[in-house]
Amino acid sequence: MNPLEISSSQFRKLAERVAEVAADYLDNLDSVPVAPAITGEESERLFAVELPEQGMGEAAFDGLPDVLRASRAPNGRFFGYVLGSGDPVGATGDLLASIVNQNVTAWRSGPAAVMIERTVIKWLAHAIGCSEFRGYLTGGGSAANLMGLAMAREAKGPANDGGVSGETVIYASTEVHMSIAKSVALLGIGRDNLRLIPVDSSLRMNASELERQIAQDLAAGKKPVAVVACAGTVNTGAIDPLAKIAEIAHRNGAWFHVDGAYGALAAIAEPEKFAGMELADSISLDPHKWLYQPLDCGCLLFRSTEAAHKAFSYTGDYTRALSTDPIEGFAFFEESIELSRRFRALKVWLSLRYHGLSAFRESIRNDIAHASRLAHAIESEPQLELISRGELSAVCFRYRGPVGSSESELNQLNAAILKRVQKRGRVYISNATLAGKFCLRACIVNHRTKDADVDAVISEILAAASETAATGKKEFQAKRCDEAH
Ligand SMILES: Cc1ncc(COP(=O)(O)O)c(C=O)c1O
Repeated sequence: MNPLEISSSQFRKLAERVAEVAADYLDNLDSVPVAPAITGEESERLFAVELPEQGMGEAAFDGLPDVLRASRAPNGRFFGYVLGSGDPVGATGDLLASIVNQNVTAWRSGPAAVMIERTVIKWLAHAIGCSEFRGYLTGGGSAANLMGLAMAREAKGPANDGGVSGETVIYASTEVHMSIAKSVALLGIGRDNLRLIPVDSSLRMNASELERQIAQDLAAGKKPVAVVACAGTVNTGAIDPLAKIAEIAHRNGAWFHVDGAYGALAAIAEPEKFAGMELADSISLDPHKWLYQPLDCGCLLFRSTEAAHKAFSYTGDYTRALSTDPIEGFAFFEESIELSRRFRALKVWLSLRYHGLSAFRESIRNDIAHASRLAHAIESEPQLELISRGELSAVCFRYRGPVGSSESELNQLNAAILKRVQKRGRVYISNATLAGKFCLRACIVNHRTKDADVDAVISEILAAASETAATGKKEFQAKRCDEAH
C-alpha cells in the first residue's frame, strides 16, 4: 500500500475530528477575542517548526487548537476591511470539493463541476440584474479586475501579439481600489496611463471631469481603452454614477468595467442603487465578501465570449478540445488566465440551495440596516464625528479628541485608538483616510452581526479612547519626570 493512502474509515475519523473542532469553534465563536492575542514571535514559535521526516499520524491534528487560537475570529463583531463572515454550509462544500478534486479546466475534466459553476454564474448574474452575462469564479476581486481589464485591453487596443501601444489610457476615480492600478501595471499599460478622475462630495466619480479628461486625451492622440466604475468603493461604499459613466465610455469607444467586488452583490437586496450596472462590458463581484462564502471566491462576469476568447485563448495541442458540442467542448481556460482551477462553485451552489436567495437578500439588508444603526449611534455620541455613511454598509468616523486638536494630532490619536481597539479584541474595525483625515471604519458584511455587536463599536471606541488618554498622560508625566532629573 502506498504510504500516503488512508482507509475510508480513517478518513471518516479524521473528518469527524475536524467537524468536531469546527462545531466547537462555532459554538464558542461569540466569546473568543475577535483579534488573537498573539505576538509575531509567539506565532513563529508555534508554527515555524521542523518538517517531520516520520509521519505524526493523528497527532498532527493536535495542532488545530493553536491554529484557531492564533486566528482572527469571524464572529458578529468583525467589521474590518471588506470581508465576509464565511457560511459553514459553504465550508462543507469546500471539503467535498477537495475530496473529488476536480480540475475545473473544461467540461471533459469535470462535467458536474463545470455545469455547477456555469449554473452558479447564471444564478448570480440573474440575481444582480445582469442575466445576459456569462463568466466564472476567480480567486477574488483583484484577479477578476485583472482579467476584466485584460479583455478590455485586447478588445479595444489589441496587444497580445505586438505589445502595448504607449497611447493606451484607462480611467477610474481617485477612490478606486489598488487592484486596478496593479492590473494596469501588469497589463503593460503603465500606471502613468491610469487617469484618476476626481470625485464629488459623496466620493462618486465626477462624470463631467471624466468627460473632460477623455476629450483632452483624445485631442492628444491617446486611446481611451477602458473606464472603470466602482459599485461600492473600498473606503466608503460609494457607487459611481454607473449609467452616466457607461454612456460616456461607450460613446468614446471604451470598454466599461464595473468593480463591484465590494458592492455588486448588494444589488440582490437593493437593485435600484445599481442602475446602469447592466450596461457594463464586465463586472467583478466577490461572493467571499457580500455572499458570505468562505475564501476564496471571486467572480468575473462579462458580456462577450468573443472578447474573452480574444484575450485568453491560446491553446496548446494537449489541451485542444476534441468535441464541437457546445457543452462538451466548453473550456474555461479559453476564457481566463487559469488552466488548473479548483471546484469553487460547489460551496456557492450548496450554500445558495441550502439557504435560498431570500435569506441572502435579508442578510444583506440587515447589514445595511446595521450600518445605519451605527451611523445614528455615532451621531448621537458627542465624542464621535461621523465622516461618511456611504450607500452600502461602510461607516467612517473619528474620535473628536480635545478641543483645539490639530488635524495631525487627531490623525495620530485615532490611529492610536484603532490600535488599542484591535488589541482589546472585542470588536475589529479598520481604517480609511478621507480627504487627509485618518478615519476609523466599520464595514458590515457579516451574517452573524446582531444589534448588540454594532452597539459594542461605540463602547469599545470610547473605552479605547480613555485608555489612550490615560497612557498618554502617564507617558507625559514620565517624560517630565525624566527631564527634571
Ligand atoms: C472595491 C474593491 N475592489 C477590489 C477588491 C479586491 O478584492 P479581493 O480582495 O477579493 O482580491 C476589494 C477588496 O476589498 C474591493 O473592496
